[in-house]
Amino acid sequence: MEQIFRVGIIGAGSIAASMAETVGRMPEAHLYAIASRSIEKAREFQDKWGAEKAYGSYDELIQDEKVDLIYIATPHSHHYEQARQCLLNGKAVLCEKTFTANKAQAEELVALARERKVFLAEAIWTRYMPFSKEIVKMAHSGELIGRPYMLTANLGYPIEHKERIKKPELCGGALLDLGVYPINLAFMLFGNSPERIMSCCSKNELGVDLQNSMTFIYPEGEMAVMQTTARCANDRMGVVSGDKGYMVIDNINNPHTVTVYDTNHKQTGIYTCPPQITGYEYEVHAAMEAIRKGVIEPEDMPHAETLRIMELLDSLRKEWGVAYPSDKL
Ligand SMILES: NC(=O)c1ccc[n+]([C@@H]2O[C@H](COP(=O)([O-])OP(=O)(O)OC[C@H]3O[C@@H](n4cnc5c(N)ncnc54)[C@H](OP(=O)(O)O)[C@@H]3O)[C@@H](O)[C@H]2O)c1
Repeated sequence: MEQIFRVGIIGAGSIAASMAETVGRMPEAHLYAIASRSIEKAREFQDKWGAEKAYGSYDELIQDEKVDLIYIATPHSHHYEQARQCLLNGKAVLCEKTFTANKAQAEELVALARERKVFLAEAIWTRYMPFSKEIVKMAHSGELIGRPYMLTANLGYPIEHKERIKKPELCGGALLDLGVYPINLAFMLFGNSPERIMSCCSKNELGVDLQNSMTFIYPEGEMAVMQTTARCANDRMGVVSGDKGYMVIDNINNPHTVTVYDTNHKQTGIYTCPPQITGYEYEVHAAMEAIRKGVIEPEDMPHAETLRIMELLDSLRKEWGVAYPSDKL
């Protein structure tokens, strides 16, 4: 029988609850522990989601010999130090997006994971979803939309009031919270080396971006045109256009339906996502598979790709004048 993975979570916030629900429904994983800065909050989370252990400090979980995988679900500003502590204590890490405050921090973590031979991965769920990967295959199949040339993608939620979004010391802003989704989709579709990038943003009074617009131009003429906003809800849609038609992705953050049209706007196909638990199970599967094989990074989101994303985020922020206290730009 295969090992049941004991998953521990750092930070008892909103995404931690989604992960707890997911792990609770995965037969091959077990919600082992929740760690919060407050023991009362940890116990409340434990009661709600059925974790075996509740810790009132993150360190207690990091020191626990029984945990197989630690999922970090705190603000971006805290990922680096928490992941570092996990790696120093030999604990496999699945760390929420955005991976770290900047590329320098990400490089240090990757070097440490290599040195200690411990698994480390960015939990950017769309990179692991079978349906996302299927969408990329469909776009490039040649049969549905011809050759893909243009991605347009939007993502927006009215979340600017949240502490972790509005404050530079928590690495706030729309780019790190939302921008990473269309950027990852653009990289999946057209690769990670756009030749030219044009972008702009508007900021809050603390200096983090609340809305942004980014255009990537690739060497063979493909373009990705993306907008994200932490001020408003928007359609969350992605459209991949090719020379023989286009495909509309209903929600780039968690795609459920892709509708394909020909150049006369006649619907030629509709594809739906096969049943899933929540969509977060795939990153956990990928971590389990890599750990079982003894490799320190997942195939779907290798370290080099996380570093490339971090490099791009650094350069966009530099251009926009969005700085965090933890930056070493
Ligand atoms: N993959 C996705 O779909 C998705 C969706 C949303 C968010 N995320 C990512 O998940 C991470 C957490 O987001 P979230 O929406 O879950 O945030 P959240 O609800 O605010 O929860 C974050 C948790 O981090 C802990 N924390 C530690 N230091 C903190 C500080 N100084 N200020 C605030 N919280 C602190 C808190 O847990 P304790 O009080 O228990 O210690 C808090 O509950 C972010 O990296 C975000 O980008 C991913």
